[in-house]
Amino acid sequence: MNNLSQLFEIQKALKDANYPDYKRVSKEIIEFVEDEKDLKKVLDNIKKDKPWEYICGNAEFYTIPFKVNQNVLIPRVETEKLVGLAIQEYKDKKFDTVVDIGTGSGCIIIALVKSLRLPTIYKGKIKDTEFYATDKSSKALKVARKNIKEHKLEEIIKARKMDIINRIKLEDKNVLLLANLPYIPKEEYKELDKSVKKYEPKGALEGGLSGNKYYKRLLSQIKEKDMKSFTLILETEESIIDETKDIFVEYNPKVIKDIYEKNRFLIMRD
Ligand SMILES: C[S@@+](CC[C@H](N)C(=O)[O-])C[C@H]1O[C@@H](n2cnc3c(N)ncnc32)[C@H](O)[C@@H]1O
Repeated sequence: MNNLSQLFEIQKALKDANYPDYKRVSKEIIEFVEDEKDLKKVLDNIKKDKPWEYICGNAEFYTIPFKVNQNVLIPRVETEKLVGLAIQEYKDKKFDTVVDIGTGSGCIIIALVKSLRLPTIYKGKIKDTEFYATDKSSKALKVARKNIKEHKLEEIIKARKMDIINRIKLEDKNVLLLANLPYIPKEEYKELDKSVKKYEPKGALEGGLSGNKYYKRLLSQIKEKDMKSFTLILETEESIIDETKDIFVEYNPKVIKDIYEKNRFLIMRD
């Protein structure tokens, strides 16, 4: 088969499987496969709705490459704004500790630290800040650790298994909390795209009946920690953001939109 008919076959398979951005992915597939056997395997997976990121094992977030597998959520483009908000917050105030809660692939904290180390973005030093990545899934943390190592940040980011923030000492610290915890309400989860339900970890997506199960738990853990001050930036979704806002109402949360103009983030300071 020549290259052109190969490309057409790949593009047809991607279109049939309703792949967004099929032109870019088809080019990546051409570069990825070494022979016809490889290509057949890839096309078989595509026909079974497997996301390309899980087939090739890589995903891009904030223009940075990350390793992914089915134990972690594929980083979403909407989440990139959370990194931008965190950079701004860090530049405005000195934090002793930064925690990425529910780190998955580690994309948020890695993108943040890599950005803060660029003199064009941040002129100060980050050495006095402790950076943590937490997740309740050991399998997800394995991926996060691999990415931390790949980006040579083992000396800076500590990946720890725990429920939310329950095992980190935050007493008397100025803390920046970043959270993209599972927030899809149980009923909405059932309506998600079949490729998401079939391949992405349910434990990374579903947030109980209301979608706010983990954010309620985050609030009670925040109250147990005697932090000197904290800023919390969290990601949620438009259908439940009013309820998420109510949970944190005492901290006067402000709603921030994502790149698609949807109400997506809450930022609050105490
Ligand atoms: C929506 S994913 C976000 C992953 C990654 N931060 C991102 O933005 O792509 C949620 C993550 O939270 C983790 N998680 C779920 N419940 C948790 C809990 N109680 N404590 C800590 N992490 C949790 C999941 O394992 C998953 O990795």
